[in-house]
Amino acid sequence: MNARWTPSSWQSSVAAQQPKWPDQNELEHSLKQIASYPPLVFAGEARSLLAALGQVASGNAFLLQAGDCAESFEEFTAVNIREKLRVILQMALVLTYSTGVPVVKVGRIAGQFAKPRSSDTETIGGVELPSFRGHMVNDPAPHDESRVPNPQRLVQAYHQSASTLNLLRAFTKGGFADLNRVHAWNQEFVTTSAEGLRYEQVAGEVERALAFMRACGVDTEIHSALHQVDFYTSHEALLLGYEEALTRQDSLTGNWYDCSAHMLWIGDRTRQLDGAHVEFLRGVGNPIGCKIGPNTTTDFVLSLCETLNPARVPGRLTLISRMGADKVEQGLRPLIRAVRDAGHPVVWACDPMHANTFTASNGRKTRHFDDIIREITSFVLAHRAEKTWPGGIHIELTGDNVTECLGGAESVSQEDLDTRYETVCDPRLNARQSLDLAFRVAELVRAAK
Ligand code: PEP
Ligand code: CO
Repeated sequence: MNARWTPSSWQSSVAAQQPKWPDQNELEHSLKQIASYPPLVFAGEARSLLAALGQVASGNAFLLQAGDCAESFEEFTAVNIREKLRVILQMALVLTYSTGVPVVKVGRIAGQFAKPRSSDTETIGGVELPSFRGHMVNDPAPHDESRVPNPQRLVQAYHQSASTLNLLRAFTKGGFADLNRVHAWNQEFVTTSAEGLRYEQVAGEVERALAFMRACGVDTEIHSALHQVDFYTSHEALLLGYEEALTRQDSLTGNWYDCSAHMLWIGDRTRQLDGAHVEFLRGVGNPIGCKIGPNTTTDFVLSLCETLNPARVPGRLTLISRMGADKVEQGLRPLIRAVRDAGHPVVWACDPMHANTFTASNGRKTRHFDDIIREITSFVLAHRAEKTWPGGIHIELTGDNVTECLGGAESVSQEDLDTRYETVCDPRLNARQSLDLAFRVAELVRAAK
């Protein structure tokens, strides 16, 4: 590790999972362009999220981090963004109402375009092709030409992130997220389902609580917390050239912030202690996360905490465990204990998606709703046993009525997977499965309090 950090000090370490850009001059040109563009978020916003996550670390709030596995250049519409926000707001309402603690809302959105891959190639229809690495890098069409990394895509990802963030800011500050509109967040195809009806009940109670406050003489109009929400953005900081180009020095504090998103995380494939991703993120002031897979050792986690959060700032580091439903008890408990005993004020979040993926008989990559719930249940129980706070969940979802994950109240079956399988990468929960999950998580967390 370099003693002195700079936005480019990562370049002296090995960076895993970087695309093989065919033309370095073109890459440099795109990165220079991005470096000259305005930041997407401000340092002050990243600090607000840090403070909110500090509350999660101390057990006084809950983190809901959710969105696409990979955003798409093709599915780029206002409706798409709105529906994703809508289901996240619904989930947050259910969780807040039931647990009685604030829910910190962080989207996997407005920048989640680059994907790490287990293999450099994939075989489609018997033909071996370079792997698809996210729309920020190449095109998923199954041809050799489409798979060539194109640095113009970095610029396109920047612009799509800017527009997405702009709409999210408008929705969350301009009336869409107003608590007086809780009923409007229920989508038509969800309203008549069991979880939709359950949501209507919660929404009705929130409405009555607001009416009660007004009847008591509280002027609910003047409280902005009832009319607006703080919604933050995040993505995996995978392509370090892009992240460096958006890293700016804050004029207020003199510290460096990666202004591509409020929060960045390190993936399970790029978390080498002496690697470039850890080196890069240790120097930015944003709250950061790191995925923790099933083979993680206590020594590794403690070194990671020391490297990424030497000052032990609560909320600075979120450890996102993704163990697999059967491995939480054995894999996670020793880590929780070690981090707790070392006094590191981390946020523990559960990603119940990435270690529960398998290929269905028709070749579709999928996950079963029951495995997802089982992993979260074991996660909450492990924290209860260690007397630590199960701080949050990290999930892949969409507001649409897709059929990508099996099970849930509507019992999506292997045969159903072909009906609406639209993800550009991993299978996501649909709106009904997401709401169903929120109710179950709310019960688990309430019991843990
Ligand atoms: C992801 O979050 O989409 C991902 C690739 O996760 P992981 O790094 O945990 O495999
Ligand atoms: Co994924």
